[in-house]
Amino acid sequence: MATNAAQASTSNQKLQDWVERWVGILQPDAIHWCNGTDEEYAALCAGLVEAGTFTQLDPAKKPNSFWASSDPGDVARVEDRTYICSENEADAGPTNNWRAPAEMREELLARYRGTMRGRTLYVVPFSMGPLGSPIAHIGVQLTDSAYVAVSMKIMTRMGQGALDVLGATGEWVPCIHSVGAPLADGQTDSTWPCNSEEKYIVHFPETREIWSYGSGYGGNALLGKKCFALRIASVMARDNGWLAEHMLILKVTSPAGVAKFVAAAFPSACGKTNFAMLVPTIPGWKVETIGDDIAWMKFGDDGQLYAINPEAGFFGVAPGTGADTNANAIATLQSNSIFTNTALTADGDVWWEGLSKTPPTQATDWRGESWTPDSGRPSSHPNARFTAPASQCPAIAPEWQSPAGVPISAMLFGGRRASVIPLVNEAFDWNHGVFLGSVMASETTAAAAGASGVLRRDPFAMLPFCGYNMADYFAHWLEIGAKSGAKLPKIFYVNWFRKTDDGRWLWPGYGENSRVLKWVCERVDGTVAAVETPIGLLPAPGTLDVTGLDVSASDMAELLSVDVAGWRAEVPLIEQHYAQFGSELPEALASQLQQLAARLA
Ligand code: OXD
Ligand code: MN
Repeated sequence: MATNAAQASTSNQKLQDWVERWVGILQPDAIHWCNGTDEEYAALCAGLVEAGTFTQLDPAKKPNSFWASSDPGDVARVEDRTYICSENEADAGPTNNWRAPAEMREELLARYRGTMRGRTLYVVPFSMGPLGSPIAHIGVQLTDSAYVAVSMKIMTRMGQGALDVLGATGEWVPCIHSVGAPLADGQTDSTWPCNSEEKYIVHFPETREIWSYGSGYGGNALLGKKCFALRIASVMARDNGWLAEHMLILKVTSPAGVAKFVAAAFPSACGKTNFAMLVPTIPGWKVETIGDDIAWMKFGDDGQLYAINPEAGFFGVAPGTGADTNANAIATLQSNSIFTNTALTADGDVWWEGLSKTPPTQATDWRGESWTPDSGRPSSHPNARFTAPASQCPAIAPEWQSPAGVPISAMLFGGRRASVIPLVNEAFDWNHGVFLGSVMASETTAAAAGASGVLRRDPFAMLPFCGYNMADYFAHWLEIGAKSGAKLPKIFYVNWFRKTDDGRWLWPGYGENSRVLKWVCERVDGTVAAVETPIGLLPAPGTLDVTGLDVSASDMAELLSVDVAGWRAEVPLIEQHYAQFGSELPEALASQLQQLAARLA
């Protein structure tokens, strides 16, 4: 699939040497240095169509867009095959899989040797963040997947520009990726090459390296996202006094034209993309998007945290995304997009459950089989994805590419909690906010494997993404708060998912969440009052704008009350959660828990 298009070039001898060394190990048939141009993208996509990996969608419906269906065994991130290979096991902590780095290197090198036979090695240089931004960092991924190379063009600033930033002496995060499916002479390739036996998603935090093997899907293979921007970057951030977080970033502007930037961490399946793109229901307020998944935040000279979205695209879950739930996402993916494991309609478009009320009468499902609404099974995999350029989002904020980043005024934590947790709760101070982040929890949904409604602790929504000991990560957050001269954002805990005992939603969510954003902005400005409660600062009566909201006064009262009995029951659960960190748990958090228990007594 090598193209004749012009290729990227670099004066960085260290990078050239590194590529040459890996070529010797991986033994590809050809090498292609990606320059990131549209011509290259078109040529690679044409090759993927020829190989049967891509089906081009009808250009009248979705210009320059493609549909792919993966191997049924390669459909999601593989957390049980994800490793943090720090020199000391204790540095990976109790929430990560650990293997000794030397042993892992040996095991994986044996698999990498000759694994690209019959394939092209793509050298994919990329910047996480706007080119040249002081908050951004460069990576170079070696991959034998053209699907990955084109996806990286959407998801990152990929190509010659990243090499130019790197220059002759710059440093980069080295990322090795192979689908682990060498081709013998004359062997016909599969349309979704991967290794059905073994997958490894490996991080070496001390040397800032990523080695991935066996999967071609999502976060396993697009190494800029979870592997670099969260697991490796969280280690870089710890060492250098900044934050790499699983957070969306949005801009909210009041009717008076005053803009604020808010970052929010919610676990998967809690509506981060929807919240980042929400359409406010309160008149005069405007929400614009900076990012929907990851925030990198560094201190500016003025002591404020400035955030960038290190990504350039959205890799969003398709099922459940429709014009009624997220019109901005639907507008974003109308062109120049890749759809993986959705259904393909007979007229050359895509469809998934939740896209529209009326399903197509006939389609090809994500497994490539004929599907009708009567088939008795979903047309799309629950983790089917759209990969779409952020620049196409109608709600994208003008600042989204600002190299300086945007100053963060507030941080929101949250999860899916049917009971106990109120609609919004402001932390007393930074350390109390870190406590709230450290005990974040979300109820599993029916869509996820395992029992429904089971509470899973997912501190800071980073459980699968923290590249080091989670207890040290808590300590790092506390240190950020103690930095001299820091002008810290206010921290809030939100919950859109409260239900009555008989299962009725108490809060309508979606655009109505703008009411909470308004209260957050007003708290930042100090223009509305809050009441002090044992769990934090709740909206004083009348301060949350409910004008025109279709929620009864008694439901609002329940959403904004403190469930003392529920919180008392929460205390031993938090103790249990903290116990896994042993003596590593920062004293300040143990003390926060004691103070909470005392306030509830
Ligand atoms: C994602 C995730 O894909 O959090 O963003 O799993
Ligand atoms: Mn995510």
